Amino acid sequence: MLHVRTRSAEETKQVAEAIEPVLQSGDVILLSGDLGAGKTVFTQGLALALGVSERVTSPTFTLAASYEGRIKLHHLDVYRLENLAEVVDLDLPGLLDDDAIVCIEWGEVVMPEIPREFLKLNIQLGHPEDIPDARVLEFEFIGPMWMQREGAIASRCAAWIEKD
Ligand SMILES: Nc1ncnc2c1ncn2[C@@H]1O[C@H](COP(=O)(O)OP(=O)(O)O)[C@@H](O)[C@H]1O
Ligand SMILES: [Mg+2]
Repeated sequence: MLHVRTRSAEETKQVAEAIEPVLQSGDVILLSGDLGAGKTVFTQGLALALGVSERVTSPTFTLAASYEGRIKLHHLDVYRLENLAEVVDLDLPGLLDDDAIVCIEWGEVVMPEIPREFLKLNIQLGHPEDIPDARVLEFEFIGPMWMQREGAIASRCAAWIEKD
C-alpha cells in the first residue's frame, strides 16, 4: 500500500503523469472514492501523459469512452450499474482484451469480473483541517506483477509520498 498526498487537481494529474511510464497495455486500474474525489481528474492526467489529444470527460452517462494515445485508453465509469449483469452490455471482457490501459471508476462493482491483476486506487478527501483541495491517493498493488512495480511507482511519486 502506498499513500500519496496531493494538494490540488493539478498535482493529482502530475501524479498520474509520473506513473504513466511504468504502465503498459493490458493494465487495469480500478478507481474508487466519493463523488468529486478526483477519479476523473487522475484519468485526465494519465490521458495527457499518454498523448491523448481529445479532452477526457466524465463518462458517467456513456459508461465507457476510448481514447487513442501512446497506448489506447479505455475509461469506464460504472457508477450507474445496478448489477453485474449490466457489465455484459459493456463488453468488459472485450475491453480488457484490447491491449489498452483500462481505467474503471467505481471499479469495486466489477472486481469479480476482472480476471487478472490490477492496480487499486482509492482517493480520499483530506482531513477537514487540511487545505480543502487535499487528497490522499491510496495505491494497492494486487498481484505479483503490480507488487513488482510498487518500488518504481513509489520512487516516481517520491515528491508526494506521505511521511509518517
Ligand atoms: N487534490 C485534488 N485532486 C483531484 N481533484 C481535486 C483536488 N482538489 C480539488 N479537486 C477538484 O475535485 C474535483 C474532482 O472531480 P472528479 O475528478 O470529476 O471526481 P470523481 O471522478 O472522483 O467523481 C474537481 O473539481 C477537481 O478540480
Ligand atoms: Mg468521475
